Amino acid sequence: MRCPTVVATAGILCLAASSLRAGEPERQPSPNAGAIVRVVDSVLAGLTLQEKIGQLVQYSGGWSTGPSGRRISDEQRQIIRAGQTGSLLNVTGAAETHELQRIAVEESRARIPLLFGLDVIHGFKTTFPIPLAEAASWDPDAVELSARVSATEAAASGVHWTFAPMVDIARDPRWGRIAEGSGEDPYLGARMAAARVRGFQGASLRDPASIIACAKHYAGYGGAEGGRDYNTADIPQRTLRDVYLVPFKAALDAGAQTFMASFNEIDGVPSSGSRFLLTTILRDEWKFDGFVVSDWNSIGELIPHGFAANPGEAAERAINAGLDMDMESHCYRDSLESLVRQGRVTIATLDEAVRRVLRVKFRLGLFSDPYHGATPERERQELRNPAHVAAARKMARESIVLMKNAGSLLPLPPNLKSIAVIGPLASNHGDLVGTWAGPTDTNDVVTLLDGIRETAPGAQVTYVQGCSIAGAETTGIASAAAAARQSEVVILAVGESEDMSGEASCRSSLELPGRQKDLVREVCATGKPVVVIFMNGRPLDLSWEQNHVPAILETWFLGHEAGHAIADVLFGAYAPTGRLPVTFPRSVGQVPIYYNHKNTGRPTDDQEHYTSRYLDLPSSPLYPFGFGLTYTSFRYADLRIARETVKAADTLLVTITLTNTGLRAGDETVQLYVRDEVGSVTRPVRELKGFQHVHLDAGGSTVVTLSLPVDALAFTGLDMRHRVEPGMFTVYVGPNAAEGLQGRFQVVPQ
Ligand code: BGC
Repeated sequence: MRCPTVVATAGILCLAASSLRAGEPERQPSPNAGAIVRVVDSVLAGLTLQEKIGQLVQYSGGWSTGPSGRRISDEQRQIIRAGQTGSLLNVTGAAETHELQRIAVEESRARIPLLFGLDVIHGFKTTFPIPLAEAASWDPDAVELSARVSATEAAASGVHWTFAPMVDIARDPRWGRIAEGSGEDPYLGARMAAARVRGFQGASLRDPASIIACAKHYAGYGGAEGGRDYNTADIPQRTLRDVYLVPFKAALDAGAQTFMASFNEIDGVPSSGSRFLLTTILRDEWKFDGFVVSDWNSIGELIPHGFAANPGEAAERAINAGLDMDMESHCYRDSLESLVRQGRVTIATLDEAVRRVLRVKFRLGLFSDPYHGATPERERQELRNPAHVAAARKMARESIVLMKNAGSLLPLPPNLKSIAVIGPLASNHGDLVGTWAGPTDTNDVVTLLDGIRETAPGAQVTYVQGCSIAGAETTGIASAAAAARQSEVVILAVGESEDMSGEASCRSSLELPGRQKDLVREVCATGKPVVVIFMNGRPLDLSWEQNHVPAILETWFLGHEAGHAIADVLFGAYAPTGRLPVTFPRSVGQVPIYYNHKNTGRPTDDQEHYTSRYLDLPSSPLYPFGFGLTYTSFRYADLRIARETVKAADTLLVTITLTNTGLRAGDETVQLYVRDEVGSVTRPVRELKGFQHVHLDAGGSTVVTLSLPVDALAFTGLDMRHRVEPGMFTVYVGPNAAEGLQGRFQVVPQ
């Protein structure tokens, strides 16, 4: 254990560090909280005003030394030595981070370790499916493991802190960052948020495989008007609390140590200057005691928002709102000192922000091991370790959603003689990693073509690209159709490029880009059995394919093991288990469309003119939230509700009998939804409140019991209080948000 000789406090630091028990779950209130407070206060007392400000400043790297060859400049070295930064982002590598940290803890006066942050979103060197895909697994344990693997690799490479999980609710598939989150639902989003925080942070932050999580983008960023990134989000406080904030609270409850303030404004106040979000809700109501980082330059962007006239005002509004660390706007660096001297920011406010940052560094154990166990040797062992690759394959298989399977075309028989593999995404490495893939190597991607060749060695596999993803060229389509004609089965991979979703990558259309639609039509016109594999970062409009193609798989961007995972599903080594975490519209004109909408006074009735509907389209989605098929079928019967009346403190048990009515074993995700029939304010037509995975052999039958804690029915009522209101509720148990058996129960006063 190294103990840096911190100004006048070294002894206390080492003592307190060693008094923390190894393996202690940091997500529980620490029994040593008092000791941490004392240590943090004594470190703080030894800092100059400039050093305090330095702790609140984060610089972006590209700062690197050692094997990668890039050198840190004298100026950068001087910034660290002078204690003018508390954190760097975008620097990785055990050797690189070690050299920078060494300067901080050996050459600076205060010797406070740096925190190295990075966007570790869905893998580090082993690339997992994009988060939206992982959410389609509806498997929090698998998602936790994915985050754990990412943390293990990143930590070995010197990263201490990931800017993840992204927990923004997204109801608009035009918004490119829908790819980065868990979809439209607060309950599923909360389960995924908590799983990811647990995975990143582990049971103990002091475990060298743990990194700090950051719940982002706080808040309402996914509500961008028109699905255009960075746009205004017009979200009433009730919807904010009952929908958008739910996964943030879950991340906090799971122990997330940091939050990131979002770019957008709500109701005239940009998040990075919102005292209501950053202090009233986060600190006063939720008792968050970690720190808040800005998004990239989001403090500086208070100026174009029209919320501050200059960098000084921006810094003043941000820190007084409760924003602790400035990512790259330099407003804190350049203005905090004079703001404090002028009394526009109190020393108490500044000290509190520094305390929060130091506390997190302390919890990670950086004061006892500033390198957090990262060594080049550990890095070599961990990056793309075979166990990590196996976990990525498992996660990828679970992320695939079977959308259609007419005539049981899938799984394909093992004895196929000829297969045509067609499409711009069929032999594609670069796009399959998806957005925010970090320091990935796209050569590690197993393409769909690779996966099929490996899984069906006896078949003659003909590959034709057909067309590009977005280009206007159509000359390859004829040879694609010719290859289709000569094969028993066609596997056709179409979709988006990885840079069509993610940050600043919004689309006004949900159609397949370029000439891919022509390719699909021509290949289908051959009359051959076609399986269309969609690869994309958002729900696309699959209407034509749903009407004309026998089999459709939604595979999103599955990461390094994509080809293996899809081949596992195509040939039946794995029967699909994925369920949609987001509604798929029939057309972009239906957007925003989400299952937990309000009923309105004139609920949709496509036969009745004066109801809430379109003249030219049914109002229902193409595929509802929760939808997904598998290679067998299930029957739901015999819904029973244990009690007719319950109180808020009770847990209600709901049972159904589930029967596998097909010819194969399979897994069903039994989903429980509730509708609060009448409230002090209107309530959604359905809300997901639980789900359970059930495996059944062909012909098998079982009673499935789901438990519903009645306090999960609480919402923000007319008086803005969060509570369960007595009254009648409908419960639905079924395979997705549009189907299911139903029953009723009553909540009576306590
Ligand atoms: C994104 C954040 C990200 C940050 C740092 C910003 O542009 O909005 O999600 O964490 O950059 O890379």
